[in-house]
Amino acid sequence: MPNLLPFSQELRARTSRGHAESEGADFMGDLMTGKGTREDYIALVAQHYFIYEAIEDTAERRKNDPIVAPFLSDKLTRLPAIEADLRFLLGENWRESISPLPTTASYVARIREVAATWPGGFVAHHYTRYLGDLSGGQVIRTIMQRQFGFDTNGVGFYLFGDIAKPREFKDTYRERLDAAPWDDAERSRVIDEVLVAYRFNTDLFRDLAETKASSVA
Ligand code: HEM
Repeated sequence: MPNLLPFSQELRARTSRGHAESEGADFMGDLMTGKGTREDYIALVAQHYFIYEAIEDTAERRKNDPIVAPFLSDKLTRLPAIEADLRFLLGENWRESISPLPTTASYVARIREVAATWPGGFVAHHYTRYLGDLSGGQVIRTIMQRQFGFDTNGVGFYLFGDIAKPREFKDTYRERLDAAPWDDAERSRVIDEVLVAYRFNTDLFRDLAETKASSVA
């Protein structure tokens, strides 16, 4: 059957269940409903450090790839904001006090593997993180600010100072997804990789919940 939907819409439709599972993870749900602690939030920021280090390092290496290049923008770069957040939240020695959880280590390995071998796979990971940060991330930021009294320090990760209109930015990003020179088979592979990325995010929330439970015990 021919695909009648633009690719970006097909992608969203076929991954909405993956999104719902990530969004609905207990760890995230607790943070969003006031049951999570400031430490929980910091633990999440620490894992973002490793994830974005991998995405942004591999993006730099792939910046001349004709498939990847249209999706890259300096306006998206998150690592400096994450570093500043961690310095604010954990102090000068923040780097020595964080380490990747098992799911983060696997997630990072997967990002590096696909980035080295498969441009469409890299785009799948890039899409899953940045379009999410520009969407639900904005809701998360508002709630974290309200709950933990953050102004901008501590939630810089969610502040895209160079993107005045996230909606327009996301629309342009989706147009580029629609314009990518992928046949149906490649589109399916990219969709599957987005599902893989959602799965990593859901599993990471489970890791974070388990770490929290074991430190309370
Ligand atoms: C509390 C957690 C979350 C909330 C409340 C949330 C909320 C939302 C909302 C409202 C949108 C739609 C925005 C729009 O149509 O413009 C969205 C889109 C998106 N979210 Fe989330 N989200 C959450 C977690 C996540 C996670 C963990 C990921 C993956 C890392 C993610 C990835 C995405 C992506 C990729 C989109 C864009 C879908 C598309 O339009 O193609 N979200 N989110």
